[in-house]
Amino acid sequence: MNVLVIHGPNLHMLGRRKPEIYGKGTLPELNAEIRERAAASGLKVRIFQSNCEGRIVDAITAASGWADALIINPAAYTHYSYAIRDAVEALDVPAVEVHLSDISKREPFRRVSVIRPVCRARFKGEGWRSYFKALDFCAALEKE
Ligand code: DQA
Repeated sequence: MNVLVIHGPNLHMLGRRKPEIYGKGTLPELNAEIRERAAASGLKVRIFQSNCEGRIVDAITAASGWADALIINPAAYTHYSYAIRDAVEALDVPAVEVHLSDISKREPFRRVSVIRPVCRARFKGEGWRSYFKALDFCAALEKE
């Protein structure tokens, strides 16, 4: 199973940006762990990070025909990007929304996710484990 993993804006700053909320690990460290766990579960992953909405839309579109599932932390775009929402819907593979923090317990604007309705599952508030649970979810899909 091929899984596209997308990290949205400012996630390249992991480790330096609000470590009390997002943790001390860096994005390369997180990606290494994702790659290792994916390989152990028999998943092939491609990982993409961008701070630009259009590039994220393009990456989702380009994965059509390759990706069997999508794991996406849209970061701030979660809360207002209908363009990313539509791209996820158009990709038409099971999508999983991921957040390091618990967006339901933070500022009111973070409680809204326009991406949620086009995702099969959501894992939030568990730091890196949110991504690992999303990988497990994808691995379980393969067995369906
Ligand atoms: C985030 C939560 C978003 O509200 C925020 O804008 C982010 C990261 C998370 O992983 O907790 O950049 O998606």
